[in-house]
Amino acid sequence: MAFEQQIAKSAVQVVFAPTQTPMVLSQHVQLTQILNSLLANALEAMDKGGTLTLTLESTDSHGVCVVVSDTGKGMNEEQRNMAFRPFFTTKRGGLGVGLVLVKRIMERFGGAVTLESCEGEGTTVRLSFKRLP
Ligand SMILES: Nc1ncnc2c1ncn2[C@@H]1O[C@H](COP(=O)(O)OP(=O)(O)OP(=O)(O)O)[C@@H](O)[C@H]1O
Ligand SMILES: [Mg+2]
Repeated sequence: MAFEQQIAKSAVQVVFAPTQTPMVLSQHVQLTQILNSLLANALEAMDKGGTLTLTLESTDSHGVCVVVSDTGKGMNEEQRNMAFRPFFTTKRGGLGVGLVLVKRIMERFGGAVTLESCEGEGTTVRLSFKRLP
C-alpha cells in the first residue's frame, strides 16, 4: 500500500475492520484514487498522531458505505462548508482538488460522499456505493 512507509513513520494507528466484502459499482482505478486522496487527507490531519479507521457499513439492501475516519485536527464550520469547492485548501502547497474529485467520481458511480467533522476531534468521510445485484 502506498502509505505504508508514511504510516510506519508516523504515530498513526490504523484500524481496518471490514466485516464483509460486498460487490459495489465502481472502477478500480478511480476507487484507488479516491482512497488515496482520503487517506492522504486523514494522515495530513494527524501530523501529531491518531487513529485512522477504515470500515464498511451496509446502509440498506441497496448500498454499502466505505467509512474513512481520523482523529486528526478536524474542520471548523467554514472549512466544512468549503471542503468540496474546487481549489479550497488550508494547506501550504495544497491544490484543493482532492475532495472535489472524490465527489465527482462517486457521483459518476451513482454513489455519494458525505463528510462529518469536528474541530479538534476528527473527520469521518462516508462513501456510499450502489451495491451490485
Ligand atoms: N481529514 C481531514 N481532516 C481535516 N481537514 C480536512 C480533511 N480532509 C479535508 N480537509 C480540509 O478540506 C480541505 C480540502 O481538502 P482537499 O483534499 O480537497 O484538498 P487539499 O488536501 O487541501 O489539497 P489536495 O488537492 O492536494 O488534496 C483541506 O485543505 C482541509 O482544510
Ligand atoms: Mg487532499
